[in-house]
Amino acid sequence: MSRLVVVSNRVASPTETKGSAGGLAVGVFGALKDSGGVWFGWSGDVVSDTVANQGPKLEQDGAVTFATVGLPKKDYDQYYRGFSNATLWPVFHYRNDLAVYDREEYAGYRRVNSWLAHRAIKLLQPDDVIWVHDYHLIPFGEALRAEGVTNRMGFFLHIPFPSPQILLNIPPHEELVKSLCCYDVVGFQTPGDQAAFHDYIVRHAHGTASAEGHVEAFGRKLKTGVYRIGIFPDEIAEQAKRGEARQDVMDLKQSLEGRKLIMSVDRLDYSKGLVERFKAFEHFLEKSPEWRGNVTLVQIAPPTRSDVDTYQQIRHNLEYEAGRINGRYSGLDYTPIRYMNQRYDRWKLMSLFRESQIGLVTPLRDGMNLVAKEYVAAQNPDDPGVLVLSQFAGAADEMTGALMVNPHDIVGMSEAIGRALSMPLAERRERYETNMKMLRKYDLGVWRDSFLADLRGVDQGKHAPQKR
Ligand code: G6P
Repeated sequence: MSRLVVVSNRVASPTETKGSAGGLAVGVFGALKDSGGVWFGWSGDVVSDTVANQGPKLEQDGAVTFATVGLPKKDYDQYYRGFSNATLWPVFHYRNDLAVYDREEYAGYRRVNSWLAHRAIKLLQPDDVIWVHDYHLIPFGEALRAEGVTNRMGFFLHIPFPSPQILLNIPPHEELVKSLCCYDVVGFQTPGDQAAFHDYIVRHAHGTASAEGHVEAFGRKLKTGVYRIGIFPDEIAEQAKRGEARQDVMDLKQSLEGRKLIMSVDRLDYSKGLVERFKAFEHFLEKSPEWRGNVTLVQIAPPTRSDVDTYQQIRHNLEYEAGRINGRYSGLDYTPIRYMNQRYDRWKLMSLFRESQIGLVTPLRDGMNLVAKEYVAAQNPDDPGVLVLSQFAGAADEMTGALMVNPHDIVGMSEAIGRALSMPLAERRERYETNMKMLRKYDLGVWRDSFLADLRGVDQGKHAPQKR
């Protein structure tokens, strides 16, 4: 089997792939181990120009090479903080109102992609299969092609693909879509994302797109597909169960003094609907006096991208809301919202999920949302908690056993909290079983293997130079 080369903005460290990182890192690493290969990307460090140009730092773990490069400050600002996270991220999450566009940042984004491609070339072998991940690296494949690379190349978008009317807000939208068309396979999380891409191809790029995902545009032919990212549910269930007897979990249980527990875990991001969620919980307490003092919302929200303005704003808003609501409903021995900015170990989160009665996952927009899936997998099958899920998370397509909410409807979310807290055991079990069936059917292995099967199925000679 030909080697696999994974390219992503962040690269898990060899130790993280042994279990402490998210399931995705473990899943991708599994594929790398099977075929041997390279995981290439940004080290997460901002370094001097000299250090950046020294070449990738290489770490070997069996048949897998981890190759990472640092980024100089200007590149970090333009490529990561700027175009990726202040333009692409908000627009792709339908938040044009929060997006800023700066030509120089866009030029930096393309420049860094070309620079990364140039660094990666030295690591490539002729029949490697190259799998590029996420919005930071849309032009990466095109840059490799420009350097004469003819390998099979696939791209998977972890975040939503917006409908064309939204995408048109990014001035170089056409260049971005053209770059995507340089890959052989482009994968999306949901049929809605794929349809939005096809819509752009047909209506704005004068191309064609078939229901089977055959796309022709900009003089290229590619295949698009829906590959739902999943988890390994049985491993998570095991992890959650093992944690039950750990000290932190027992401490939390003791501190709740018999109160019901609602759990939410998200990166501190405006796409996650955190303010709306706090307001829904406030509304619930306001309308259900019998629950005051009897239910606690634990919100864990580790800050990310804190040098982007919009992230500073959401942090500020959320601190204000948590303080205001707690001021209104706290008692001497009761705090309704426990709001924490620390990062917690995964096993700990899974055990906390298992202790709770509700998993409240209400993003305004989300590519998939693996927390929703992990919440379900972590439950005790004999006494499962209820997943309350936003209809705008990619996971909503599969998690049909969840109580579905519109995160803009504060009263609707508040009602769902009430319904979940008093849901009979038989219904909770039925909903849990429905969700678990889907988690097992579309697990992380299926996501990875089906994408790679489509990519490996591409004719290797497709991009070879034509002989005269
Ligand atoms: C999302 C993106 C990932 C990204 C992650 C963390 O899940 O789809 O590509 O790595 O957020 O964001 P960060 O900016 O910290 O890498």
